[in-house]
Amino acid sequence: MDDFRKLMYGVLVAFVAVLVVWVSFVYISACGFTFTCRRGQPAVVATSIPTLAAATLPAPDFSVQTIKLNQCRIAAVNLIGAWVSAGYPESDVFTFTDIDGQNCEATFSEDVHPVFTESNLWYPGSLSCSSCHNPDMAVSSSQMDLSSHEGILAGSRRTSPDAQGTDILGGGDWESSLLYDVLYVRKFMPLGRPPDVPAEGPVVFAGTAIEEGSQ
Ligand code: HEC
Repeated sequence: MDDFRKLMYGVLVAFVAVLVVWVSFVYISACGFTFTCRRGQPAVVATSIPTLAAATLPAPDFSVQTIKLNQCRIAAVNLIGAWVSAGYPESDVFTFTDIDGQNCEATFSEDVHPVFTESNLWYPGSLSCSSCHNPDMAVSSSQMDLSSHEGILAGSRRTSPDAQGTDILGGGDWESSLLYDVLYVRKFMPLGRPPDVPAEGPVVFAGTAIEEGSQ
C-alpha cells in the first residue's frame, strides 16, 4: 500500500513538474524572460513613411520673392513713434535708428500701415487694430478708423464719417499722444493684450538700411 502511494505521489509530482516545465518553455520561447510579453502584442500599425511632396503645376516661381537683405528691425511702438515724430507723412520717407543701430528709412504704407492692419502681429492670436477700429463709425470701437492714413489722422470719437475727432497723434509730439498712452504707458491695446507683451511691442521688420555715404 505504501509503495503504491509513493508511486502515485511520484507520478503526480512528475506530472506537475513536466507541466510547469512545458508551460515555462512555451512562455519563454514566445515572450522571453519578461512578464510584459511584448511579442504577444499585435504589431503597431504605423503611418507610411512620407514620400516626396506632390509636384504642383505650374511649379512655384521662387524668383518672385525678392529678399531684402538690408531690412531693419525695430519695436512696433518705436516705429509708430518715429513716424509720428516725423510729422506722420503719408508717402514721404521718414528715418529711424533700428535695434542694431543702423540708420534706416521707411514709409507709412510699406512699414507703419501693417502694424495697424495685420493680425497676429502684437502677440500670437492678436486681432489687428483695424478689425475693431474700422471705417464703419456705427460699429467702430471709439469711433476711430485705424485702417488707413486718413482714418488715423482723423482721430477718435468721431461723430460722423467725415468729422474730425480727438487727435491720437499728439500733434506730432509722440510721447504726449493718446496712441503712445494706450500702447506704451497703459499697454491695453490691442484690447486683450497679455501682460507679457513688452511695452514697446514686438520687434518687426521695417524699412531698409540707408547705405553708408549714399546721403
Ligand atoms: C478687440 C478690439 C480692439 C482691438 C484689436 C484694438 N482696440 Fe483699441 N480700443 C478698443 C476699445 C473697445 C476701446 C475703448 C476703450 C475704452 O474706452 O475704455 C479702444 C480704445 C482705443 C484708443 C483710445 C481712443 C480714445 O479716444 O479713448 C486708442 C488710441 C486705441 N484703442 C488704439 C488701438 C491700437 C493702436 C490698436 C492696435 C495695436 C487697437 N486699439 C486694437 C478695442 C480694440
